[in-house]
Amino acid sequence: MDETSDDPFAPLIGVHEDFVDKLTELEATLDEMMATRETREGNEIILDEAVRFFAEELMPHLRLEDEAVLPTLENAIGRYGTLVTVVMYEHEEIRRGVAKFDEAREDLRRDPNSWPVIQELNRHGIFLVQFLWDHFRKENTSLFPTARKVLSADAIRKITEQISAP
Ligand SMILES: [Fe+2]
Ligand SMILES: [Fe+2]
Repeated sequence: MDETSDDPFAPLIGVHEDFVDKLTELEATLDEMMATRETREGNEIILDEAVRFFAEELMPHLRLEDEAVLPTLENAIGRYGTLVTVVMYEHEEIRRGVAKFDEAREDLRRDPNSWPVIQELNRHGIFLVQFLWDHFRKENTSLFPTARKVLSADAIRKITEQISAP
């Protein structure tokens, strides 16, 4: 899109969009498991893909924001009582949620059709889906607009270099 081509945060916003697709897929499989009260082969595949996605794509994304965006923004607006703290805390909450989801997924591997385990996995999975959806929206509509407004051209250039590096 033309209107976002000059946006230094376009790569992160694009990643958020891809992530939402992944989460929608996970949500659909959890809904199916709650309806059937069992774990079918197709569900197993999506659950394993979710575990891989959290570890290999989501965790590096949080780290990139922690290292490339938040410190620069903190220099400009401070940490306490600002969005910097909110986003930092939410990243910690997401990491805890992923650990719980992974644990429930392992429990389900041992006992694929246990109804309590399916419910537990669903609880952690749906929490993550909703929390992440809200988190990405907060970054897109508050964090990045604030950064665009308060950061110097130099600071923006530095962020752009870090987030577009391979
Ligand atoms: Fe984030
Ligand atoms: Fe993000």
